[in-house]
Amino acid sequence: MGKRILVTGGAGFVGSCLCRELKEDSYHVTAVDDLSNGKRENIPEGVDFIRLDISSGEGLKRLDAHSFDSVIHCAAQSSNALSFKDPKQDMLTNQLGTLNVLNYCMGKKINRFIFTSSMSVYGQPEHLPTKETDTPYPDSFYAIHKLGSEHYIRIFARQYGIQYTIFRLFTTYGFGQNLENVDQGLLSIYLSHILNERTLVVKGSKDRTRDIIHVSDVVNAIKFSLDNPKSYNRVYNLGTGQSMKIEKIVEMLTTGLGYRRGEYPVRYESGTEGDPFDTLADIEEAKRDLGWKPRISAEEGIRLTLENYKALLNRHE
Ligand SMILES: NC(=O)c1ccc[n+]([C@@H]2O[C@H](COP(=O)([O-])OP(=O)(O)OC[C@H]3O[C@@H](n4cnc5c(N)ncnc54)[C@H](O)[C@@H]3O)[C@@H](O)[C@H]2O)c1
Repeated sequence: MGKRILVTGGAGFVGSCLCRELKEDSYHVTAVDDLSNGKRENIPEGVDFIRLDISSGEGLKRLDAHSFDSVIHCAAQSSNALSFKDPKQDMLTNQLGTLNVLNYCMGKKINRFIFTSSMSVYGQPEHLPTKETDTPYPDSFYAIHKLGSEHYIRIFARQYGIQYTIFRLFTTYGFGQNLENVDQGLLSIYLSHILNERTLVVKGSKDRTRDIIHVSDVVNAIKFSLDNPKSYNRVYNLGTGQSMKIEKIVEMLTTGLGYRRGEYPVRYESGTEGDPFDTLADIEEAKRDLGWKPRISAEEGIRLTLENYKALLNRHE
């Protein structure tokens, strides 16, 4: 039997893509999720699913009878904006939840742990492109709790010999994001407006820039690190090393869905607290250690994503 992997947040966007790929690579995959933002139908066939809440120690007891070789911890309250509305909930999931999962690993002597952290830990980045060694200035509760989790992981590694890899994901997009959640994701929020034929509300300047990465490149990097000792106890940015203006992203989404340039109604509003103006990842470390590089350009990734949504819409018509 292939190695046994636990994916927390496995019903979410990144987690479910990861489960699918790992399953195809013959790992035995178990997904856990409380379905607060994920969907049961995202769990690929052949992947075991257990519904539980990682913020409760009781929840994780449901895994007592199981055993895993590695844990990939993706479960999170994944919205910067929502972390301002409910900092306590963010802390319970994104900080206490991580501590609970680490305690579970320690109890079960699972010594491989991968964590999806966020570019948000940098706040307004010190430098562009931003290196992993740049000083983090977390500027939202979400970012504080992600960074706190990174430190918990580091201490567990020192005390209990857990081999960790931390990935700081930049804006990740692709088919399968929860379009009903208009507080999380960038492209998914825009797409949700356009596919519902509502005015596209953009929070923040059109001149902001974002390093956006297709989910399959994120999943590949995580897979490449799983059994790769070079990546043990390291932190990596996951972006493409290229950035694009928000205005351009909006244009690509609207024209890609058949509207003429400038035709779709867009309203720019004031930005979300804690949102950096520019993001750009330095990805040299990940490229060197993982033998990985992003394969999908923003143009290609957006085209693929829109194709998937168009096919879905056609099926429903
Ligand atoms: N998508 C991005 O752009 C991005 C960027 C940076 C970091 N990340 C991180 O990557 C990871 C995956 O993000 P995503 O885009 O797939 O988000 P997502 O919201 O789709 O996935 C997170 C999953 O965690 C689940 N969850 C939330 N609270 C839980 C709890 N208490 N117990 C169990 N499950 C719980 C949700 O139901 C959801 O399915 C998250 O850790 C997120 O913070 C994502």
